[in-house]
Amino acid sequence: MSNLLTAAHPIAWIAAISLLVTVAILRARRYLLRYRFKKQHGCQAPQSAVWTKDILLGLDGMWESFQAIRNHHMLELFQRRFAERGDTWVAASLLRRKLFTIDPENLRSMLSTNVNDWFLDRDEATWRFIGPGVFTTDGAAWSHSRALLRPNFVQDKIAHLDMFERHFQNFLTHIPHDGATVDLQPLFFQFTIDAATEFLFGKSTSSLKPGADRTYYEANFDQAWATAADHCRWQIAAAPFKFREGAEVKRAVDLIHAYADKFVHQILKERRESEKTRRNGGSEKRDTSNGRYSFAQELAKSTDDALQIRHELLNIFAAGRDTTASMLSNMFVELAKRPDVWAKLQSEIAVLNGAPPTLEQMRSFRYVHYCMNESLRLWHVVPLNYRKAFRDTYLPRGGGSDGQSPIFMPKGTTVTYSSFAMHRRKAAFGEDADTFRPERWEGWNPSCAFQPFGIGQRICLGQKYALNEVGYLMIRILQEFKKIESRQPLPWTETSGLVLSSLHGTKVSLTPA
Ligand code: HEM
Ligand SMILES: *[C@@H]1O[C@H](CO)[C@@H](O)[C@H](O)[C@H]1NC(C)=O
Repeated sequence: MSNLLTAAHPIAWIAAISLLVTVAILRARRYLLRYRFKKQHGCQAPQSAVWTKDILLGLDGMWESFQAIRNHHMLELFQRRFAERGDTWVAASLLRRKLFTIDPENLRSMLSTNVNDWFLDRDEATWRFIGPGVFTTDGAAWSHSRALLRPNFVQDKIAHLDMFERHFQNFLTHIPHDGATVDLQPLFFQFTIDAATEFLFGKSTSSLKPGADRTYYEANFDQAWATAADHCRWQIAAAPFKFREGAEVKRAVDLIHAYADKFVHQILKERRESEKTRRNGGSEKRDTSNGRYSFAQELAKSTDDALQIRHELLNIFAAGRDTTASMLSNMFVELAKRPDVWAKLQSEIAVLNGAPPTLEQMRSFRYVHYCMNESLRLWHVVPLNYRKAFRDTYLPRGGGSDGQSPIFMPKGTTVTYSSFAMHRRKAAFGEDADTFRPERWEGWNPSCAFQPFGIGQRICLGQKYALNEVGYLMIRILQEFKKIESRQPLPWTETSGLVLSSLHGTKVSLTPA
């Protein structure tokens, strides 16, 4: 060793020393800058010390989380952690510090007022099955997607009640009319896939339609989606470690892409043809099965990039399909146990006299909306979400001994928030926060403490579509069946898929009206 040192050339020495000095200066500079930044914003040390016993790697916390995922009570675990440690706390995770918060002020800062200091990096490899689009990207790419899609989400382009009615009629054919037990959950998933594919691609997978003539892709899209989404969820749980994509997942992803591409190419071809006819003096033909443009056709007016259209459609599908299906399954688990709520809903919609509702009528049913809000409060379908600090920044709460002072967030820090825990805070919702009580919404608005569709610039694009779909299906089921009973003795239990759903399905018995 000493030989090596004395043998080193003086220039090597000088280089090594100047490197060290430079690093030291940069460090000192950053320290000073941060010191000034913290002072300027009144940042205090975090309210609670790092809570993991392993303060470097946080392996104990990770192990506890892993066990909870396996045993289907991860959300309860998070709820307990927040109850024990306060609204904002720090955990170690593989040599880094992660912040966890359910303080509405922090969310407001991160998602809305100070949004430029934060970003969302949904890992590209993890989300390969849908590709880069409005849901997975950030920055300029995201702005571009969002601007492209937004005009297509105005009410008149998404209010497809006649379409929901058609799929509802197919849905009905799967419900026994003799009160035999039926699991509504898979039917809700089929309903939402049939509706979403029609809405987005212009042609439904028709999975609920008896004897429908379906192509190979249509018949297998659902299963392929489930396989790819499941792989994605494990990638997220295992991050930063990666699984290899097995042959089955590869096949599923290929099928999803082929399914979407078939529509995209068809639509682009039609567009080119109609442009040609127009140039030759002919009139444009509106060709869709029901005289309405599909979402894909609308998109094809603004771009002819086939890959981009595919990605955007799949991004919307990912954000919109399992979410509404899960919301319905979670809500009906509860409704089946609540004859009091069922009766109130029945009496509210009795004015329809059995006729399908219009949009205006749907809007007027307050109790239906209370139930939807209460369901999204207790079983929010996006129960955990996160952002990362894009630069050195701060959050308004979580510092100082009372947790009411700002807290410094070094660049790169991940902040995870749990709407499951936030929506069950006793401070905001009262002692009965864990109970389904739609009446709490009467003349009441919890403002920021309740945010089922997010807040700020990335707020859900499909909020109206989702509430139309869920509300319509609820009302139609209420009209067709006078009674519902639970056929599941076990309590509701979470599945930690990409979205929050019911592990034991939605097993009920329905009595025709
Ligand atoms: C119960 C149903 C739904 C719930 C609770 C829900 C909730 C959310 C939430 C919380 C976000 C924000 C995520 C974030 O900030 O990271 C979001 C984003 C989004 N949602 Fe929904 N959603 C639902 C249904 C739908 C439907 C039906 C569609 C489409 C038809 C849709 C399309 C989107 C899109 C495209 C985004 C990404 C927006 C962006 O990042 O700019 N959602 N949703
Ligand atoms: C449901 O929650 C939203 C979001 O907080 C709120 O704006 C709306 O008024 C609530 N609906 C009812 C019927 O209380």
